[in-house]
Amino acid sequence: MSNRTLAILKPDCVRKNLIGNVIAKINEAGFKIKAMKMTHLTKESAAGFYEIHKHQPWFNDLISYMTSGPCVPIALEKDNAVADFRKLIGATDPSKADEGTIRKLYAKDKTENIVHGSDSDENAAIEISHFFSRKELLENYNN
Ligand code: TYD
Ligand code: MG
Repeated sequence: MSNRTLAILKPDCVRKNLIGNVIAKINEAGFKIKAMKMTHLTKESAAGFYEIHKHQPWFNDLISYMTSGPCVPIALEKDNAVADFRKLIGATDPSKADEGTIRKLYAKDKTENIVHGSDSDENAAIEISHFFSRKELLENYNN
């Protein structure tokens, strides 16, 4: 799994009509899209996805935001995918993100920060399976 990562184009990305801009950046950086869908998360699904953060003071705001509209999970493939994608998106807080990163370019603040990226190979595998069935992945990963 070490060449895979999960991206989510978050609800503010969809609302601001930035899906195309962000996908262009992802492709320009050399990532291949292996699976993609648009989905409106339920509270249960969002809370499950972000379970590791459930004790954070900002958890409820995060779940409200992530369920505020549709989002676009994308399974990506590239050598060194997890680290390279984190580099492409920039720091969680866009005011601290490097110039040229997706969050620096488009994100409003550290809750509405446009895009998710997995933080380890292990979590990438778990997160990809949160959104995509084995069948969807097998169909697409074989090309
Ligand atoms: P985290 O895993 O720390 O950031 P990243 O998305 O860069 O891996 O946090 C997960 C999400 O939680 C983050 O993208 C937005 C939200 N969040 C807040 O709303 N407030 C905060 O102070 C932090 C740290 C995160
Ligand atoms: Mg994280």
